[in-house]
Amino acid sequence: MVIYGTRPEAIKVAPVVKALEAAPNLTPIVVVTAQHREMLDQVNAVFDIVPDVDLNLMAHGQTLNSIAGSVITKIDTVLEEHRPDAVVVQGDTTTVMGAAIAAFNREIPVVHLEAGLRSGDINSPFPEEANRKIVSQIARVHLAPTMVSRRNLLADGVADEDIHVIGNTVIDALHWAVARPVEFNVPELQKLTHDERKVLLVTTHRRENLGDNMVSIGKAMRQLAVTYPDLLIVWPAHKNPKVRASIGPHIGDLDNVLSIEPVEYGEFSHLINASDIVLTDSGGIQEEAPSLGKPVLVLRENTERPEAVDAGTVKLIGTAAERIVSEVSALLDDSKTYRDMANAVNPYGDGHSAGRSVAILRQLVSPSQG
Ligand code: UD1
Ligand code: UDP
Repeated sequence: MVIYGTRPEAIKVAPVVKALEAAPNLTPIVVVTAQHREMLDQVNAVFDIVPDVDLNLMAHGQTLNSIAGSVITKIDTVLEEHRPDAVVVQGDTTTVMGAAIAAFNREIPVVHLEAGLRSGDINSPFPEEANRKIVSQIARVHLAPTMVSRRNLLADGVADEDIHVIGNTVIDALHWAVARPVEFNVPELQKLTHDERKVLLVTTHRRENLGDNMVSIGKAMRQLAVTYPDLLIVWPAHKNPKVRASIGPHIGDLDNVLSIEPVEYGEFSHLINASDIVLTDSGGIQEEAPSLGKPVLVLRENTERPEAVDAGTVKLIGTAAERIVSEVSALLDDSKTYRDMANAVNPYGDGHSAGRSVAILRQLVSPSQG
């Protein structure tokens, strides 16, 4: 049983669901909590995945405990009914933590995809660092993306034989998406590939950035748009109303800021490709953009994804408006600074992680077939 609830989980489990569907003698049961609604449905539609069970949990104004409570209770009922041989969860959201606890309490083995990421600060990202540590304590199998994540798991006391380094399935999804021709739904994006202007792609949503930090990001976007009239800033706004309320007022009147709805995943991968610089607090985009050779400025103080920082393609810059403006300006004004960062690096995988996951799952649920 594959359980997920939000956009980034959906993108990263999709290659595994597809590989399970194609695998003889394994039957995936796809369960969505729908902690996200529209942003989850967008991904399922792109990958042509129709969930077997949809708990439809999202509520505007949901709290961490309201989501966690309903995930544990409702997933428990689904587990009772379907009695899966194993449960697969991906990443560090509240859905992941709740589903893993529900399965553990029913003595169903938990397989954790993208295991072992650590920022080292329990409050950042909040509550994801805690969620992934909790799942590491109760998972039976840990599918780590890199050797760094493997070492983190070993340091947490996870047994060596329970850890498999398989890469990150985000790269499987990305390879699939960039190879697929798409037409942008948003008319302004259709012109992008012929547009002479530099493009700055911005996404934000982290809970610890809500409030003052998000306002500061909005102010920096405004200053950049005014200082560089030839720059096009593209902002696919997260559906969270708190994100929109903090940033929207600062950029609403500017012609060179394109504020749009979340972009369908297939289009989004092409949008990264068409951009020059990425400014984000997203986890997944820190993995995708380096693979496409795009400099990424991360709106956070730390990261659980140090690999591309070490490679020089990702830089942590925090959320102070002056710093954001100076870092983006340096990339726009100085071609050497830009070239030094714009290296395609692939520390997160080779695009074959889903196949490895399925081989390990098969070994877990029917060792004689392994
Ligand atoms: C959650 C995850 C975070 C992940 C992020 C990906 C937790 C604790 N956080 O963020 O790890 O990086 O998703 O985007 O699990 N909304 C909609 N439609 C949607 C999605 C969201 O309207 O399709 C609105 C709703 O009002 C919802 C709000 O956004 O209440 C926040 O959604 P939520 O899942 O609670 O977001 P985060 O916890 O910030
Ligand atoms: N993404 C998308 N459309 C958008 C913005 C992001 O499909 O408009 C994808 C992006 O390619 C990445 C994922 O969503 O794979 C990241 O999701 P998000 O930033 O919401 O969550 P995080 O990765 O931080 O958990």
